[in-house]
Amino acid sequence: MAVVDGDQGPEPRAVLHLADGTPVALRPIQPDDAERLRRLFYRLSPETVYWRFFSPIQVPREAVLERFARVDHRRREAIVAVVADEVVGVARYDQDVGTDEADTAILVEDAWQGRGLAKVLLRRLAEVAGERGIRTFTALILGENVRARHLYSSVFAGVDATLVGSEWHLRIPLEGSGAGCP
Ligand SMILES: CC(C)(COP(=O)(O)OP(=O)(O)OC[C@H]1O[C@@H](n2cnc3c(N)ncnc32)[C@H](O)[C@@H]1OP(=O)(O)O)[C@@H](O)C(=O)NCCC(=O)NCCS
Repeated sequence: MAVVDGDQGPEPRAVLHLADGTPVALRPIQPDDAERLRRLFYRLSPETVYWRFFSPIQVPREAVLERFARVDHRRREAIVAVVADEVVGVARYDQDVGTDEADTAILVEDAWQGRGLAKVLLRRLAEVAGERGIRTFTALILGENVRARHLYSSVFAGVDATLVGSEWHLRIPLEGSGAGCP
């Protein structure tokens, strides 16, 4: 999968095509994505919700959707993958105050998993984070979440993973990670 088109307007976006030709737009999240995030939530399997949020959430809280959709594009950023005007994947970072580190999280809708979208989203997120002076990503992953564990290691070099209780704590140096490569 390659990014084949892009522009640098007020809302930078890139369009890539999946192996079956489906166009997917990548762009920073915007406030009116709150409703798209709500619709995305109700299309997720219970397993995907649990892997992402570490608990079996039934109904997303309004304030949480708003907070997820409203970022400052500096200290907090989220890149969304959009198909037919619906969000099908989100990668986000939240910078720790006063540091050059940012915590990350990622989610791809079940129907769109296994097509390389998470890798593309994480690479894009790392690119913009690096431009803003963030040097290290961190991530918390449930111990049994082999898929997410492999994902981070396939995108980034030098992932340091420590198992603390039932969770993996990842530290990922961005410099020299090669994450910017397509
Ligand atoms: C983890 C997740 C984001 C992966 O999304 P995806 O779009 O399916 O991932 P990709 O297709 O880009 O695959 C990327 C890598 O994931 C790993 N992966 C994908 N499917 C896998 C599977 N069934 N088993 C093991 N590893 C797998 C591989 O390392 C793959 O790289 P490769 O193709 O070079 O082998 C997705 O499964 C998801 O949303 N899970 C629930 C939320 C979550 O666990 N988030 C992480 C904690 S915040």
